[in-house]
Amino acid sequence: MEEDHLSPRPAGVPWEQAGALFVAGTTAYAAVHAVKVERGETVVVSGAAGGVGSLVVQLARHAGATVIGLASEPHHAWLTRHGVIPLTYGEGVGERIRAAADGTIDAFIDTFGAPYIELALELGVPGERINTIIDFPGAAKHGTKAEGSAAAARAEVLRELASLIADGELEIPVARVYPLDEVRDAFRELERRHTNGKIVLRP
Ligand SMILES: NC(=O)c1ccc[n+]([C@@H]2O[C@H](COP(=O)([O-])OP(=O)(O)OC[C@H]3O[C@@H](n4cnc5c(N)ncnc54)[C@H](OP(=O)(O)O)[C@@H]3O)[C@@H](O)[C@H]2O)c1
Repeated sequence: MEEDHLSPRPAGVPWEQAGALFVAGTTAYAAVHAVKVERGETVVVSGAAGGVGSLVVQLARHAGATVIGLASEPHHAWLTRHGVIPLTYGEGVGERIRAAADGTIDAFIDTFGAPYIELALELGVPGERINTIIDFPGAAKHGTKAEGSAAAARAEVLRELASLIADGELEIPVARVYPLDEVRDAFRELERRHTNGKIVLRP
């Protein structure tokens, strides 16, 4: 291990949050930077309350954007608390997004998968301002971006994210902590794809 690959854990950041940060945090960071979110823009995020999505929405808000987050209703209160406009996904979601955006939709970050690239294009978002972290065939077909953790997996990114947590500007929601011998239950929970934030395994 080389010294410049290490990031110290700030004292105020709990181990569970620090442990959950690397992949989800660098992925969210890469996705927000891929679509070049600017202050005053409107950004839509699918899977907005999930492990990666919950960080994407906060980083996009931190960049000064109006953020519309697609999530099931039990997660709307968490999104509202973080300054995100929550919308239910499913039938009619395109109309709900248009009504909530009240104008141009500048960028779309997909953390769930199909059909969100197609939806973003229907909403008039240009391909270079759409990023998916999961729908790689869709990105190749439509020429959108598909940047994930590999694009931001650097110690200085981790340091920046950890200091946002320490300053109270970024929350890593931890849905549940499982002891390592309950790893099967943790994966069953993860496979349901309805968590708010991260599932953490404690060794
Ligand atoms: N490219 C990369 O570097 C990279 C890195 C990390 C993860 N990933 C991938 O990214 C994906 C997301 O990971 P994650 O850890 O964030 O997953 P997750 O925590 O399971 O979150 C999934 C989210 O999807 C939402 N969802 C479920 N059905 C939906 C629907 N029909 N439409 C819109 N949203 C829906 C859920 O919201 P509700 O509960 O509110 O329904 C949930 O919050 C995974 O496939 C993962 O493998 C890629």
